[in-house]
Amino acid sequence: MDQPLYEQVATQIEKQIIEGTFLPNTRIPSLRKSSKQFNVSIATVMQAFSLLEDRGLIKARPQKGYFVQSNQPTAETAHIAPKKYDGHMHLLLNQLLHASQDKNIAPFGAAIPHSDFLPLKQLQRSVVRLMRAEPEICSTYEFTPGSLDLRRQIAIRMLDTGCRLQTDDITITLGCQNAIMLALQATTQPGDTIAIESPAYHGVLQAIEVLHLKAIEIPCSESLGINLQQLEHAAQQWKIKACIVTPNNQNPTGATLSRQTRADLLRIVNQYDIALIEDDVYGELGYQDKRESALKANDTEARVIYCSSFSKSIAPGFRVGWIVGGRYQDKIEHYAYVQSLAIPTVTQIAIAHFLEHGAYDRHLRKIRQIYQTNLIRCQNIVLKAFPKGTTVSEPTGGFLLWVTLPDTVDAMQLYQEALAQKIGLLPGLAFSLSNQFSHHLRLNYAVLWDEKNLQALLELGALVHSLENDVLTDNDIYQHSPT
Ligand SMILES: Cc1ncc(COP(=O)(O)O)c(C=O)c1O
Repeated sequence: MDQPLYEQVATQIEKQIIEGTFLPNTRIPSLRKSSKQFNVSIATVMQAFSLLEDRGLIKARPQKGYFVQSNQPTAETAHIAPKKYDGHMHLLLNQLLHASQDKNIAPFGAAIPHSDFLPLKQLQRSVVRLMRAEPEICSTYEFTPGSLDLRRQIAIRMLDTGCRLQTDDITITLGCQNAIMLALQATTQPGDTIAIESPAYHGVLQAIEVLHLKAIEIPCSESLGINLQQLEHAAQQWKIKACIVTPNNQNPTGATLSRQTRADLLRIVNQYDIALIEDDVYGELGYQDKRESALKANDTEARVIYCSSFSKSIAPGFRVGWIVGGRYQDKIEHYAYVQSLAIPTVTQIAIAHFLEHGAYDRHLRKIRQIYQTNLIRCQNIVLKAFPKGTTVSEPTGGFLLWVTLPDTVDAMQLYQEALAQKIGLLPGLAFSLSNQFSHHLRLNYAVLWDEKNLQALLELGALVHSLENDVLTDNDIYQHSPT
């Protein structure tokens, strides 16, 4: 695949940094100069610089230009190899999930929207009506593949993603996590290698461990999403059985794949015979009016397994998700049946009712607007309250902000100290198999901007400042060393 021009420019500059032509803390040639040197437009150089910033190799200093930040090979250039998950984050994730139930902890940690942003009243009415009119639904099983009414509603909604489905193409699952597990079980055996985004949603890392898989971490940038060049490179070296991608509002970077990237990704999985698991749990939460087609919509070989749920937009506690398995559908349905026999009936029918009576689109319009406003507030506060050098992602949907701290601040230490002050957050280490992202954190901004949460975010900023100042500089060491 031809590399876009700006990536070619970025690769050449990266090479010069790693080989020592440009040393750490020195300035690289300006936009104008680079544009002349590479004989490309200034816009192309800007894109290349932004990619190098995403890779942590350079950093802009206001009014001074771009400086080399690190000369270490990034995951882009380092040897990408299959790894197992050692479960280093189990304890932390457990702690985090419990913290998310604690009303005294500021809710920036777990990816759970505040209950004000969920249509609880409408769901309550649906459940009450249902229990009054048809109490016998509790006395029977809703066997896999699940409620026909709900599958019909999902098939109708999925027309917006460009997918034309029959109800038989869909199996109802216990949330999206269950759908991901089923997709992995249907496409892999223990010991197999899969490709994942890096950083990746931690539930995928845990699934890898439980299923005894190995994973190759493919860099995923905030602006462009998964790096297809690296994916292809990995596919040339290893037999990759499946690849999991979140094309819309990726957790945690917020990246959304362009139409071209989607087409290129499909070409790669077709060429290297890889099952593509599309995790679209944030797909309904894009701030734009129109969404890109799902990968599944252009899947000519029936190799895309589409997974989603209503957890992020209607009710996480209902645990209602779905899977569209393509060529793996029979296997998936069989596994789903063996694992859980049936899915709770009341929640499925309550959601089907909510979808059918048209309130869903209105609800989505409302929460997308709230999340977009929250995003701007959250970005502004972080950029003001955190030390200079902190950067934030620019998601175009969802409710998760990916924050890059100055290099001297350890996000794991920040997590522990913030929790002691009753502030929740998720440190970057939770998103990697290989201890990457130690200076990153993820913040949930589907929160109420009341005085308490605002104060908590400001306190978090003060904590980051104090951790940054804790680091001894060369000067400190010189001044304090025994004479
Ligand atoms: C990217 C991603 N996929 C899947 C899930 C799991 O969704 P569910 O709660 O429906 O199981 C989450 C939850 O945070 C997520 O962020």
